[in-house]
Amino acid sequence: MIYSHILGTGSYLPAQRVTNNDLAERIDTSDEWISTRTGIKARHIAAENEKTSDLAVEAARRALAAAGTDAEEIGLIIVATTTPDMQFPSAATMVQHKLGINGCPAFDIQAVCAGFMYALTTADAYIRSGMANKALVIGADIFSRILDWNDRSTCVLFGDGAGAVVLSASEQPGILASRLHADGAHLDLLKVPAQMENGRISGSPFVKMDGQAVFKFAVKQLSAVADEVIQAASYTPEQVDWIVPHQANRRIIEATAKHLGLSMEKVIVTVDEHANTSAASIPLALDSGIRNGKIRRGQTLLLEGIGGGFAWGAVLIQY
Ligand code: UT7
Repeated sequence: MIYSHILGTGSYLPAQRVTNNDLAERIDTSDEWISTRTGIKARHIAAENEKTSDLAVEAARRALAAAGTDAEEIGLIIVATTTPDMQFPSAATMVQHKLGINGCPAFDIQAVCAGFMYALTTADAYIRSGMANKALVIGADIFSRILDWNDRSTCVLFGDGAGAVVLSASEQPGILASRLHADGAHLDLLKVPAQMENGRISGSPFVKMDGQAVFKFAVKQLSAVADEVIQAASYTPEQVDWIVPHQANRRIIEATAKHLGLSMEKVIVTVDEHANTSAASIPLALDSGIRNGKIRRGQTLLLEGIGGGFAWGAVLIQY
């Protein structure tokens, strides 16, 4: 049996760290409100000259180094992003070029905060079908550029970053099961309703969100998809060593863990330092858990995420 095995991970955070108190100096908010409602303490913000593909390629280089893999060995590049450098070409082709390689398929996936679940599942399908031997799967976003910095209900929630995974075809276990879902009926709950049209941007180019509705929908669907993927692999929640969730709100993360009957000791939490980095949040948390020694080889990981669309999914992995 061929699995998609994780060879290595990497991540990148822009240098500038902005705390809740920094934001409270500029807008009507407080560290107390942001920490209590979300668990966020700080976020990283990309420099003016940094583009999504720059963050992505830095995370990719670190993942390749951790995997002991040369860029030339990569047969597939997928970048999950909602904030590519430009309308087209894709961030993935830019990453490919910056890595000094060419020829292999490279494309972006846009499923907002669920993007990394979609990208990982797509790469797994390529590997298991023999269409790729080694894949670079990246989640990268610069949400700070699509935030209205005067809208306190959204701007305090997000940050910038990138995370990457090198997958390889292997007889050693890797991705055990994955499940993806989407329901466009909820598109108005979370969106950037802008479009480039005849040389102008029509509609608002900033994130609009119905926070409370998103919160309820996220808890419900993340709990359901976690159950589903665990059952698909014929596992039980007790066999999960680590939940590596999308990092949007600590209360959503706690509710999902509680639903599975797992304590917060078994959850990788980075929302305090990263805030919501959209498609980057799960691979950033995964890389952080691996590098700080919490996640060890052979352990079972439950990755899960949800975002605008709505789109959501979960992946169960033996690391
Ligand atoms: O990746 C998926 C994307 N997003 C999410 O997962 C986010 C899901 N939703 C949430 O995390 C939460 O709904 C929020 C953190 C966004 C909001 O928390 P909440 O407990 O649902 O607060 P709320 O929206 O009901 O607002 C409560 C109050 C309001 O004031 P009033 O009307 O009660 O006087 C807001 O105006 O908090 C006020 N408020 C703020 N106060 C200080 C909203 N934003 C802020 C702020 N600072 N930044």
